[in-house]
Amino acid sequence: MDRYLKEFTAITRELLDSQQVRSMGLWRHHGPVTCLDHSLFVAYWTYRAARFLRLDIRAATRGALLHDLYLYDPRDKSAHPGNQCLDHPRAAARNAAGLTDLSQKEQNIILSHMWPLGGALPRSLEAWLVDLVDTVCASLELTRICRPARLRERLGVRPLAATGAC
Ligand SMILES: [Fe+2]
Ligand SMILES: [Fe+2]
Repeated sequence: MDRYLKEFTAITRELLDSQQVRSMGLWRHHGPVTCLDHSLFVAYWTYRAARFLRLDIRAATRGALLHDLYLYDPRDKSAHPGNQCLDHPRAAARNAAGLTDLSQKEQNIILSHMWPLGGALPRSLEAWLVDLVDTVCASLELTRICRPARLRERLGVRPLAATGAC
């Protein structure tokens, strides 16, 4: 494992070991890409960019890893109140607050990651960064240019139910 992967793992260890984060492997998020693989992809490249830009690496990386922790099947209309675009950042922030001691900056990163389509306004450079990296990663996933499952395999993160509801 290279030094970047080692540092990324050290920052996120508590979260990577949790059932909640690993259970994101149950749901597809973009095409065949699971919510877990997407979140790891966004979190890792946010970590690399935050490091390069000398931002708050811990808040940016943790916020990115938890930004889509909504924990339901987005195709199930009964699983959330209405508009997925608006609902899922709020559900993710609620679940993240139940999982870890979330800073205000981390909470805003999660709540604002869909801006300008919905949610809160990003209030830090780290929140703007996650918004941007999320958009780039989603585009690479939807166009099948990248296969983020490879990153999960390199990190040794096991989805809670690899043969689950995907
Ligand atoms: Fe999202
Ligand atoms: Fe996302």
